[in-house]
This record gives sequence, structure tokens and C-alpha cells, in this order.
Amino acid sequence: MFRRLHDNAATVTITIDGVTTKAAVGESVAAALLASGDPRCRQTPVSGAPRAPYCLMGVCFDCLMEIDGEASRQACMVTVREGMAVKRSPRPAPMTP
Ligand code: FES
Repeated sequence: MFRRLHDNAATVTITIDGVTTKAAVGESVAAALLASGDPRCRQTPVSGAPRAPYCLMGVCFDCLMEIDGEASRQACMVTVREGMAVKRSPRPAPMTP
């Protein structure tokens, strides 16, 4: 569904849930995730519905992922770098009143 407009860009290697993939230098983690073919980045706490990057400008918070061991980072606001480890966020435990 998503493809890069310029596939001739320099690349870095990142992992998404342990799977190695190439990302263009200067693109966001969210862009790399969308280009990977599987845009899921987290699940909603209540229903577990999958979410994917939506606004790509730091507003919606649908792109929360674990990036280099730090949870709940906005993937659209982080630029990829060589060796970056990205993980989809696990479904959080339901809140109790
Ligand atoms: S995609 Fe909306 S905040 Fe990242």
C-alpha cells in the first residue's frame, strides 16, 4: 500500500520485532514501518484493535512503539539510525477503576 517515492536513497539497517529491514536515511521510524508492509505498531488497551501511524506529525499518538528499549515513543517523530531496534508495543493491561 505504501511505497517510497525515491528508492535510490542511502539506507540504514534497522530491526522491527527482530526482523531486519532497510530504511532510507532521514526517514522516520513510522515511514520505515509503513514501507515494511506491516504498518501495525500497537494495540488499543480496551479492544486490542491494531493501530498504525495516522497523522505522521506527532498529533494522534497512534504510532507509539518501543524504540531502542524506550517504550511509548512516537515513531513518526524519531529518525531512523543504523542498528536501531524497534518493537511493536504490547497491548497494555486494562485499567481498573
Ligand atoms: S502518527 Fe500521529 S503521532 Fe505519530
